[in-house]
Amino acid sequence: MMFMAQDYDDVVTLGIGEPDMDTPEHVIRAAMNDALAGWTHYAHSQGDPELRQALSDSLLAAGRDVSPDRIQITHGAMGALVAVMRSLLCDGGEVLTPEPHFPDYAAHVGFAGGKLATVQARFEDGFIVRPDELEAAVNENTRMLLLNSPGNPTGAVLPGEVLDAIAEIAVRRDLFVVSDEVYDAMSFDGPAPSIFDRPGMSERCLVVNSFSKTYAMTGWRVGYCYGPEWLMRELIKVVSYSTASASTPGQRAGLAALLGPKEPFQAMVDEFTRRSQYVYSRLAEMPGLRVNRPQGSFYMFADVSGSGMDGLAFAETLLKEEQVVVIPGETFGPSCQPFIRIACTVPMDRLEIAMDRMERFMKRHGETA
Ligand SMILES: Cc1ncc(COP(=O)(O)O)c(C=O)c1O
Repeated sequence: MMFMAQDYDDVVTLGIGEPDMDTPEHVIRAAMNDALAGWTHYAHSQGDPELRQALSDSLLAAGRDVSPDRIQITHGAMGALVAVMRSLLCDGGEVLTPEPHFPDYAAHVGFAGGKLATVQARFEDGFIVRPDELEAAVNENTRMLLLNSPGNPTGAVLPGEVLDAIAEIAVRRDLFVVSDEVYDAMSFDGPAPSIFDRPGMSERCLVVNSFSKTYAMTGWRVGYCYGPEWLMRELIKVVSYSTASASTPGQRAGLAALLGPKEPFQAMVDEFTRRSQYVYSRLAEMPGLRVNRPQGSFYMFADVSGSGMDGLAFAETLLKEEQVVVIPGETFGPSCQPFIRIACTVPMDRLEIAMDRMERFMKRHGETA
């Protein structure tokens, strides 16, 4: 879609999956000063000890006791996902994840020699997977459950009772759990619960997180993960032989983001909350569109079948007729053809223009289908 958009003028792009805000200045300055002071060499493969300590402290403040030696710093959350898949799937096996899902999971699992299997999460359930259906999809090859909450592309937050049930399944069926929580800072109804805090998870769960979305630091490529000690000994091998370490100035930037003023990041969360509420209220009024109230992240996943088009045709026609980019749902799994993903990653004035254009579009296509 981004490529096709180059043929049009004044396009509003609701396709980009990263904060549109730049990294706050105090973070950039701290990293620059550290680089000038000599922080330009390889970092320790497990990650800068000061950064791991600061992460451990911030996790403790949020009620999670994770010592620095159980934290691995990675090249973005992607680095953590690659490392855990390569550590646990070297002799094959299936990873089970709810669909719709972040599309890169299939590659992370496939590159490691495993297979991604999916279980349907339904629009009618707010895209919350049903634990009994998840368990029904487990077979003798299943090694791992891969969860993402708050979710990309749905904006759904898995509730505590669903996580309780999934944790119980993981223990009973002897499955490892990877919990991708890169959008945890953007949870609109209070802190997003984590499966990590459920009984039995300390030895079988890895949480993947990142500085990318929380601190508007996608380009610095710093992520992290934490989990059981036995796994940490494996992850460090993958990290040290694939990337050596995450970027040293990037890790110093992460440290500054963790230790410095929180206001710029809170302002970002407030802004995404405001934008998501606005977009939801506009979409909910449009004929031929169905959308769930977003609970987190900055995405919405709308059912466009009322337009008579699938998500791909919808996205192409919307671009052609109204110059708005959205992402076709099938990107997030074959069952997602009736959907589009909307990212609230442009300022309010551009979002208002995009919503006016979509409303006009739906008045033409939504009422006649
Ligand atoms: C669900 C999910 N996990 C992981 C990532 C990767 O994040 P990072 O930039 O930290 O590699 C993304 C990026 O869009 C994502 O949406």
